[in-house]
Amino acid sequence: MLRFAQTLDRQLGAALERAFPEAAAAAIAAGRRLDPQLAAASKPEFGDFQANGALALAKSLKQAPRQIATALLAELEADPAFAALCLPPQIAGPGFLNLTLRPEVLAAELRRRLGDARLGVPLVEGQSAAARPPVIVDFSSPNIAKEMHVGHLRSTIIGDALARVLEFRGHPVLRLNHVGDWGTQFGMLITHLKQVAPEALSTADAVDLGDLVAFYRQAKQRFDADEVFQATAREEVVKLQSGDPVSRRAWQLLCDQSRREFEQIYGRLDIRLSERGESFYNPYLAAVVADLEAAGLLVVDAGAKCVFLEGMQGKDGNPLPVIVQKSDGGFNYATTDLAAIRYRFAAPPAGDGASWVIYVTDAGQAHHFAGVFQVARRAGWIPEGARVEHVPFGLVQGDDGKKLKTRSGDTVRLKDLLDEAVERCEADLRRRLAEEERQEDESFITQVATTVGLAAVKYADLSTNRITNYQFSFDRMLALQGNTAPYLLYAVVRIAGIARKGGDLGGGAAAAFPDLLQYSEPQEWTLVRELLKLDTVIAEVEQELLPNRLCSYLFELSQVFNRFYDQVPVLKAEPAARASRLALCRLTADTLKLGLGLLGIATLERM
Ligand code: ARG
Repeated sequence: MLRFAQTLDRQLGAALERAFPEAAAAAIAAGRRLDPQLAAASKPEFGDFQANGALALAKSLKQAPRQIATALLAELEADPAFAALCLPPQIAGPGFLNLTLRPEVLAAELRRRLGDARLGVPLVEGQSAAARPPVIVDFSSPNIAKEMHVGHLRSTIIGDALARVLEFRGHPVLRLNHVGDWGTQFGMLITHLKQVAPEALSTADAVDLGDLVAFYRQAKQRFDADEVFQATAREEVVKLQSGDPVSRRAWQLLCDQSRREFEQIYGRLDIRLSERGESFYNPYLAAVVADLEAAGLLVVDAGAKCVFLEGMQGKDGNPLPVIVQKSDGGFNYATTDLAAIRYRFAAPPAGDGASWVIYVTDAGQAHHFAGVFQVARRAGWIPEGARVEHVPFGLVQGDDGKKLKTRSGDTVRLKDLLDEAVERCEADLRRRLAEEERQEDESFITQVATTVGLAAVKYADLSTNRITNYQFSFDRMLALQGNTAPYLLYAVVRIAGIARKGGDLGGGAAAAFPDLLQYSEPQEWTLVRELLKLDTVIAEVEQELLPNRLCSYLFELSQVFNRFYDQVPVLKAEPAARASRLALCRLTADTLKLGLGLLGIATLERM
């Protein structure tokens, strides 16, 4: 619908100019234009679009809205290009103009999409992907030697979906895993391991991540309770950061160990990521301080080097600082993020030369990023026209609305969570097969259970508005009804079933379908219109970085399809209608597969 919206916006704008030449000239002189305020129709019975401009213009034109709408209508009807696109428009209510696209225009657009692998979704305008500056999506980003938790899972799933949408639109995307591989945790961990499990510091795979996490917890306890331990741990950090070979080797081993475990999760979830952890920015930390100093932004406060934020006060009403270098000379999380943002926007070869940087983390880090962005802006590191955004998300809660925990009260391990989703799917599937007396081999069962289980976990997360907290529930996410992955996957399976029953859904090209698609039933038109929304929805997801928009659309599409398929004969229809309806089935399947693919979800032919 994007193309039509653009064309109509142009036609309506020109019609307004013809109807009100003086006001149009005045608006243009003031750098504006007479805006027809074109929007999608608020209800299907109003057609496809509505133009609300007459109401907004009433005051400046000193005319009643209906009068303006009538003048606009007269100009539109004199424009043959408009008449070729829309049925005669209706003036409604106080002066809205309701616009309905001609059926043959909709059918032709549908026909065009059948032969288009992008299903009508345009690439971003401007240079080709190769010439375009990269968009960085910083996501997942767990911490070494700590367990990757459900918050990181949310970041991973949301970040991956956003990266996929941006890539599909033709942005070169740099998917960065900003792993926490440089903090004080290493000082504690290395000190503790030297005493209790020295082999872990010199031999690969001597302990697994679960052990490492336990060791980290013990180390933290000792650090908090024991001053001698604390001092040793601090020395250990300094040693590591100054490049001591033994510490470096130990650090490397610990990182490798964690990395292998993270890779397993990424592999299962089909996530591509380039690791560029905090340690990468270590060589740039001194330059951050120097830059801020030179810009006159640094203030020494109680021995620490800080930048005080504008417009962000603490409880006492004083401006909040971003601490860039602690009084002991150490750097912290914010310093690394400053070095990272500086590097990411810096022109190559000194940096990534990004035009847009997106950070996907929990909402709890909103202040941190607001501070980092402000300091970076004031330091002049963010080029004119560049975009930088924190994409926050809410907490993952258990069924009880509290923080997600295992029955014994421990934090949930991601591996266990994914295993459980797949196991539950497998049990459901076996039950269903037994009921239906269906025989399937084990490889089918494994494949279906794995695909559906992982799809359910991803989809449940993506389909809630990311800003809100999210209640994790296996029962809800695995349900065959409702806004769930199984429901959507089932719609795809249903269409594959039509092909198995002899419906020609066309191979690569859309040769099997008639040049002129013909529709008569209201359910068909509803489906046609729903299918044509894909491009608009994707543009919205890209703009607002909200994957749940795409989920809602795919759910709506599945429902509209199911209604169509339940109420309108397809395989039993007479030939012309049958071919046109099969075209709808094919495009529905393609749209669902493409949309789910952008969410990182694989589909099935049978389940
Ligand atoms: N490691 C951090 C955490 O676990 C997330 C890092 C997000 N990215 C960033 N550039 N700060 O919370």
